Amino acid sequence: MSGKYIQIAIDGPGGAGKSSLAKGLAAELGKTIPFVYVDTGALYRAVGLYVLRRGRDTSSHEAVSSCLDDINITMEHKDGRQAVILNGEDVSGLIRTPEVSMAASDVSAVPQVRQFLLSCQRGIANTVSVVMDGRDIGTVILPDADVKIFLTAGVAERAKRRWLELREKGSAKTLEEVRAELELRDKNDSSRAAAPLKPAPDSILYDNTVHDLKACIEWASGVVREKCRDKIAALEAEASLTEGKR
Ligand code: DC
Repeated sequence: MSGKYIQIAIDGPGGAGKSSLAKGLAAELGKTIPFVYVDTGALYRAVGLYVLRRGRDTSSHEAVSSCLDDINITMEHKDGRQAVILNGEDVSGLIRTPEVSMAASDVSAVPQVRQFLLSCQRGIANTVSVVMDGRDIGTVILPDADVKIFLTAGVAERAKRRWLELREKGSAKTLEEVRAELELRDKNDSSRAAAPLKPAPDSILYDNTVHDLKACIEWASGVVREKCRDKIAALEAEASLTEGKR
């Protein structure tokens, strides 16, 4: 078990619906105690963006590692929204392109990058209750998380969701292209030597192919309330005390 704060890890492949679940769950649990949603993929995306901008090869471990000394990434959380700050610049919008997705997958295979981002992720989870989504949250970043969920969905469905998302942003990519990129990223993320995507042995598997976000949030929130009864009670008491002092 983690310390005083609640840690919820949500891992799984791209397009499984991790961020929708994590956001919704943090909002639901955050009604009574401070809860933050942390999208850890954004950190890898920021590193990928930096390496692309420098014109370096994102798949070269050496080229990527040599950039790390020049990178400073922080996360800011305001009103349920997460902003990613790369060397003082808010890059939250810029990191959502297919090019940066691939770069993020490349740089995430570099052990020095994973080490570089580890303390940032653990640092947040030590100061507030979190719902953190990524690929290695339950296995590496928060091995003592109170609840670990591994979210999956069929590849056709995941590709369709990504394609619709991209189309809304004006992308002209075809569904087949989006699916091919997703499959390549899945392969990269699951086969890399450093912290590959896999369910932690103590994680709960949830198949999100038939996507019903409300049902998924209700299910997950029920699991958390059941497993973290004591912590929730203590944190709620603390929160109402702080409220009373204002
Ligand atoms: O969740 P996402 O699609 O934004 O993640 C982008 C890439 O970052 C993904 O292909 C793999 C990598 N990643 C990772 O290796 N570990 C994490 N905890 C989160 C993301």
